[in-house]
Amino acid sequence: MSLGSELRPAVVVVGGSRGIGKAIATVAARQGGPVVLVARSHDSLLAAATEVQEAGGEAFTLDLDLFSAGASLRLEAFLQENRLYCDVLVNSAGYGLRGAATTLPIGEQLGIIDVNVRALSELTLRFLPGMLARRRGGVLNLGSIAGFTPGPNMALYYASKSFVRSFSDALHEELRHAGVTVTCVAPGPVETEFLDRSGAGRAMLFKVLPRADAVDVAESAWRGFKAGRRLVVPGVSAKLTAFVASILPTAVLLPLIGRLQRRGNDPCPCGSGAKYKNCCGKGWLSRIAPGG
Ligand SMILES: NC(=O)c1ccc[n+]([C@@H]2O[C@H](COP(=O)([O-])OP(=O)(O)OC[C@H]3O[C@@H](n4cnc5c(N)ncnc54)[C@H](OP(=O)(O)O)[C@@H]3O)[C@@H](O)[C@H]2O)c1
Repeated sequence: MSLGSELRPAVVVVGGSRGIGKAIATVAARQGGPVVLVARSHDSLLAAATEVQEAGGEAFTLDLDLFSAGASLRLEAFLQENRLYCDVLVNSAGYGLRGAATTLPIGEQLGIIDVNVRALSELTLRFLPGMLARRRGGVLNLGSIAGFTPGPNMALYYASKSFVRSFSDALHEELRHAGVTVTCVAPGPVETEFLDRSGAGRAMLFKVLPRADAVDVAESAWRGFKAGRRLVVPGVSAKLTAFVASILPTAVLLPLIGRLQRRGNDPCPCGSGAKYKNCCGKGWLSRIAPGG
């Protein structure tokens, strides 16, 4: 079979039903051509497809749960059935959980690794060989400024984003002379459902940092990807935060982030069942933040 000659190139947005993924799909749709939206929520996918069409793209939707076995193979089969190939892969599916790791459900925490790390890696590795054979296209992975530091009280999420940044950086270097781009976009807080769903929106850190608009982040991410950049940190505030995180000593950064992501009413990580502020955090909290 000739490589890609009978098939049409598609932008495949995993996590395209809402938020940053949907915004990137809409920006990508302006170039015309097929855009494949992948996520679990059927109705949200259909709504996103309408926006993609209005922006000038030809929308396809696939209801797919990344937790399910063989998800990347199902996506590959869907593309074949529709006479498409994955020219650009956008990995935007992801979630986080705020709270001390010892107090959060283990299954939901491990799910962060399944979606943010395992599925992202599997999709990337599944579609890169075709891109390399055609010497075009690439992968746009959603990292975060959370990938620049460990994040107490959101430990697995920060660790997952650190992985995304490291994995994407390494692939970018391996492939940069092969006609394929791998870009990591690392936004600060973005106004999407992510903040409420993860519980992060209730933490001081996410109240202090300004929230970017998903479309602005998408424009910046798509521009950076098209320019072949390794890392895109959209907006001044996210750049500043990433810079501060990279220069502050870990011994200073860890308690600072831990404090800004903890709420006094959170359950104590020691497992007593009491609130943190009435248990291990008693003396510490009253010294740092009276009434906290
Ligand atoms: N919002 C922020 O502040 C922020 C900041 C930095 C980085 N990010 C990162 O940006 C990415 C997108 O976040 P967002 O803000 O757009 O969040 P969002 O609005 O919650 O969107 C998440 C997307 O992922 C999909 N998804 C989640 N689990 C899935 C699964 N098991 N299978 C298939 N699809 C799944 C969701 O669709 P369904 O639920 O329909 O499946 C949805 O389309 C994430 O990786 C996030 O970590 C977000």
